[in-house]
Amino acid sequence: MSATIGVDIGGTKIALGVVTDSGEVVARTRRETQPNRPEEIVSALADGIAELKAAHEVQAVGVAAAGYIDAARSTVLFAPNLAWRENPLKQQVEALVDVPVVIENDANAAAWGEFRFGAGRDVDDMLMLTVGTGLGGGLVVNRRLVRGAHGVAAEFGHVRAVPDGHRCGCGNRGCWEQYTSGTALVREARELAESGSPLAVGMLERAGGKVKRITGPLVTDAARDGDPMAVELLADLGRQLGTAIASFVAILDPGVVVVGGGVSDAGDLLLGPARDAYEHELTGRGFRPAAAVVRAELGNDAGLVGAADLALAD
Ligand code: BGC
Ligand code: NA
Ligand code: ZN
Repeated sequence: MSATIGVDIGGTKIALGVVTDSGEVVARTRRETQPNRPEEIVSALADGIAELKAAHEVQAVGVAAAGYIDAARSTVLFAPNLAWRENPLKQQVEALVDVPVVIENDANAAAWGEFRFGAGRDVDDMLMLTVGTGLGGGLVVNRRLVRGAHGVAAEFGHVRAVPDGHRCGCGNRGCWEQYTSGTALVREARELAESGSPLAVGMLERAGGKVKRITGPLVTDAARDGDPMAVELLADLGRQLGTAIASFVAILDPGVVVVGGGVSDAGDLLLGPARDAYEHELTGRGFRPAAAVVRAELGNDAGLVGAADLALAD
């Protein structure tokens, strides 16, 4: 049995695991970190890897990172939601651990994990969207991960949804990420609470009266407990997601559309409205076969498992 370490660098935490060649996570650890301190991320990452390596024999490390990775899979060129610019991540990590390191975009890695071991295992063509802090995209065509000519393909979250819409972390306005992501959910919930709307009272109470303490998971918890406004906010996000999926499916015609990322923990509160919008808006609906929209099977492990498997294949 060969094993690799998979790492998923998120907004506030780093998840690490030892993954077998059949995609099983046999050990795990995590580190907290700040998105605005790239150096801290690298040392926390090396520390977590050292912990896992002490107890397991591994051949390589795969790192999933929320940014634009170059074709050599070594440098983070840019990240809309992290402070990385032209960051030689592979080199930095390899300097601290003595095995080869492969870097991949987080959503690409998640797509690969789901394609190999999860909801995409029975298809040849798959689209993955990760609804987290950002809106990530990963694409498998003809059983291959699509990286594009320069490594930065499948940035579905930065396709424009609304001309002159909300400003995005990427600098543009109106990206899908601004309408269907954790960032969008928090912005909408806080805006409503800020306005003094009685509809936000339930969420605000959960946040101890502090608008700034309203987070995505808080809105999801409120929605699960039946708070009508929280349910509506997630449904809004879901409808936007479904509309986005209808457009992407029009271009790609995948075998399945897999939805992951932290916000997908809301399950059908998000996916129900997403499927409705998708089914009502897909071009040719009723006269064409169309991909089902399903939840990621590996849940929050998708990126870690995918990154580990990519490192193994390298
Ligand atoms: C970034 C992607 C990333 C996604 C999910 C987006 O804002 O542009 O590279 O995959 O967020 O983290
Ligand atoms: Na991607
Ligand atoms: Zn953008």
